[in-house]
Amino acid sequence: AIERTFSIVKPDAVAKNVIGKIYSRFEEAGLRIVASKMLQLSREQAGEFYAVHKERPFYNDLVDFMTSGPVMVQVLEGENAIAKNREVMGATNPKDAAPGTIRADFAETVDENAVHGSDAPETAKVEIDFFFPEGVCERLR
Ligand code: CMP
Repeated sequence: AIERTFSIVKPDAVAKNVIGKIYSRFEEAGLRIVASKMLQLSREQAGEFYAVHKERPFYNDLVDFMTSGPVMVQVLEGENAIAKNREVMGATNPKDAAPGTIRADFAETVDENAVHGSDAPETAKVEIDFFFPEGVCERLR
Protein backbone atom coordinates (compact mmCIF):
# COMPACT_ATOMS: atom_id res chain seq x y z
CA ALA A 1 0.00 0.00 0.00
CA ILE A 2 1.03 3.63 -0.42
CA GLU A 3 2.34 4.82 2.94
CA ARG A 4 3.91 7.91 4.43
CA THR A 5 6.92 7.89 6.70
CA PHE A 6 8.85 10.50 8.63
CA SER A 7 12.55 11.16 8.01
CA ILE A 8 15.27 13.41 9.44
CA VAL A 9 18.54 14.39 7.76
CA LYS A 10 20.61 14.80 10.93
CA PRO A 11 23.09 17.60 11.80
CA ASP A 12 26.15 15.60 10.64
CA ALA A 13 24.76 15.16 7.11
CA VAL A 14 23.55 18.78 6.91
CA ALA A 15 27.05 19.94 7.95
CA LYS A 16 28.58 17.69 5.27
CA ASN A 17 26.39 19.42 2.65
CA VAL A 18 24.80 16.18 1.40
CA ILE A 19 21.09 17.00 1.83
CA GLY A 20 20.58 16.82 -1.95
CA LYS A 21 22.48 13.56 -2.31
CA ILE A 22 20.37 11.99 0.44
CA TYR A 23 17.14 13.33 -1.12
CA SER A 24 18.26 11.73 -4.41
CA ARG A 25 18.57 8.36 -2.67
CA PHE A 26 14.94 8.68 -1.53
CA GLU A 27 13.79 9.65 -5.02
CA GLU A 28 15.79 6.90 -6.72
CA ALA A 29 14.06 4.41 -4.40
CA GLY A 30 10.63 5.67 -5.55
CA LEU A 31 9.96 7.73 -2.42
CA ARG A 32 8.40 11.17 -2.95
CA ILE A 33 9.19 14.12 -0.68
CA VAL A 34 5.70 15.46 0.15
CA ALA A 35 6.72 17.85 2.97
CA SER A 36 10.09 19.26 3.98
CA LYS A 37 11.65 21.97 6.15
CA MET A 38 14.91 22.91 7.84
CA LEU A 39 14.95 23.67 11.53
CA GLN A 40 17.15 23.74 14.59
CA LEU A 41 15.72 21.49 17.31
CA SER A 42 15.44 22.78 20.87
CA ARG A 43 16.55 20.43 23.68
CA GLU A 44 12.90 20.15 24.64
CA GLN A 45 11.83 19.08 21.12
CA ALA A 46 14.69 16.59 20.72
CA GLY A 47 14.05 15.16 24.19
CA GLU A 48 10.36 14.72 23.50
CA PHE A 49 10.92 13.26 20.03
CA TYR A 50 13.34 10.65 21.44
CA ALA A 51 11.41 10.10 24.71
CA VAL A 52 11.30 6.30 24.10
CA HIS A 53 15.09 6.29 24.55
CA LYS A 54 15.04 8.30 27.80
CA GLU A 55 16.45 5.45 29.90
CA ARG A 56 19.11 4.42 27.39
CA PRO A 57 22.75 5.31 28.13
CA PHE A 58 23.08 7.24 24.85
CA TYR A 59 20.07 9.52 25.46
CA ASN A 60 21.95 12.64 26.60
CA ASP A 61 24.52 12.36 23.81
CA LEU A 62 21.67 11.88 21.34
CA VAL A 63 19.92 15.08 22.49
CA ASP A 64 23.26 16.98 22.43
CA PHE A 65 23.94 15.80 18.90
CA MET A 66 20.45 16.39 17.51
CA THR A 67 20.53 19.99 18.79
CA SER A 68 24.09 20.66 17.58
CA GLY A 69 23.03 22.13 14.22
CA PRO A 70 20.13 22.38 11.79
CA VAL A 71 18.29 19.32 10.53
CA MET A 72 15.97 18.69 7.58
CA VAL A 73 12.69 17.00 8.46
CA GLN A 74 10.60 15.45 5.71
CA VAL A 75 7.65 13.23 4.94
CA LEU A 76 8.29 10.53 2.35
CA GLU A 77 5.47 8.88 0.43
CA GLY A 78 5.47 5.69 -1.62
CA GLU A 79 4.67 2.03 -1.88
CA ASN A 80 5.73 0.41 1.40
CA ALA A 81 7.45 3.70 2.35
CA ILE A 82 8.31 2.81 5.96
CA ALA A 83 10.22 -0.39 5.12
CA LYS A 84 11.64 1.06 1.90
CA ASN A 85 13.08 4.07 3.73
CA ARG A 86 14.66 1.77 6.32
CA GLU A 87 16.20 -0.24 3.49
CA VAL A 88 17.61 2.88 1.82
CA MET A 89 18.98 4.17 5.17
CA GLY A 90 20.79 0.93 6.08
CA ALA A 91 21.47 -0.40 9.59
CA THR A 92 21.46 2.05 12.54
CA ASN A 93 25.19 1.49 12.99
CA PRO A 94 26.95 2.55 9.75
CA LYS A 95 29.53 -0.19 10.37
CA ASP A 96 26.73 -2.76 9.85
CA ALA A 97 25.02 -0.90 7.01
CA ALA A 98 24.91 -2.62 3.61
CA PRO A 99 27.02 -1.10 0.82
CA GLY A 100 25.17 1.58 -1.14
CA THR A 101 22.90 2.59 1.75
CA ILE A 102 22.79 6.18 3.06
CA ARG A 103 24.44 5.31 6.37
CA ALA A 104 27.18 3.25 4.71
CA ASP A 105 27.97 6.11 2.33
CA PHE A 106 27.48 9.23 4.49
CA ALA A 107 27.97 8.22 8.16
CA GLU A 108 30.78 6.89 10.35
CA THR A 109 29.32 6.22 13.80
CA VAL A 110 26.08 5.02 15.43
CA ASP A 111 25.76 8.37 17.22
CA GLU A 112 26.14 10.47 14.09
CA ASN A 113 24.36 8.29 11.56
CA ALA A 114 23.09 10.84 9.00
CA VAL A 115 19.37 9.97 8.99
CA HIS A 116 16.40 8.92 11.10
CA GLY A 117 13.37 7.05 9.77
CA SER A 118 10.14 5.88 11.41
CA ASP A 119 10.08 2.20 12.33
CA ALA A 120 6.32 1.46 12.10
CA PRO A 121 3.03 2.99 10.88
CA GLU A 122 2.04 4.14 14.40
CA THR A 123 5.36 5.92 15.00
CA ALA A 124 5.28 7.41 11.48
CA LYS A 125 1.95 9.06 12.24
CA VAL A 126 3.08 10.36 15.66
CA GLU A 127 6.37 11.67 14.22
CA ILE A 128 4.72 13.36 11.20
CA ASP A 129 2.18 15.06 13.51
CA PHE A 130 4.99 16.12 15.88
CA PHE A 131 6.93 17.99 13.19
CA PHE A 132 4.09 18.97 10.85
CA PRO A 133 1.21 19.86 13.20
CA GLU A 134 -0.06 22.21 10.45
CA GLY A 135 -0.70 19.12 8.31
CA VAL A 136 0.76 17.76 5.08
CA CYS A 137 -0.67 18.07 1.54
CA GLU A 138 -3.26 15.38 0.87
CA ARG A 139 -2.46 14.96 -2.81
CA LEU A 140 0.38 16.30 -4.90
CA ARG A 141 -0.59 14.53 -8.09
P1 CMP B 1 17.62 6.98 15.33
O1 CMP B 1 16.95 6.11 14.33
O2 CMP B 1 17.54 8.44 15.10
O3 CMP B 1 17.04 6.66 16.79
C1 CMP B 1 17.79 6.84 17.97
C2 CMP B 1 19.23 7.12 17.71
O4 CMP B 1 20.10 6.89 18.81
C3 CMP B 1 19.75 6.20 16.63
O5 CMP B 1 19.19 6.58 15.39
C4 CMP B 1 21.26 6.37 16.81
O6 CMP B 1 21.78 7.46 16.04
C5 CMP B 1 21.42 6.71 18.28
N1 CMP B 1 22.11 5.66 19.00
C6 CMP B 1 23.27 5.80 19.66
N2 CMP B 1 23.65 4.63 20.23
C7 CMP B 1 22.70 3.73 19.93
C8 CMP B 1 22.52 2.34 20.22
N3 CMP B 1 23.38 1.65 20.96
N4 CMP B 1 21.40 1.74 19.73
C9 CMP B 1 20.50 2.42 19.00
N5 CMP B 1 20.62 3.72 18.71
C10 CMP B 1 21.71 4.38 19.15
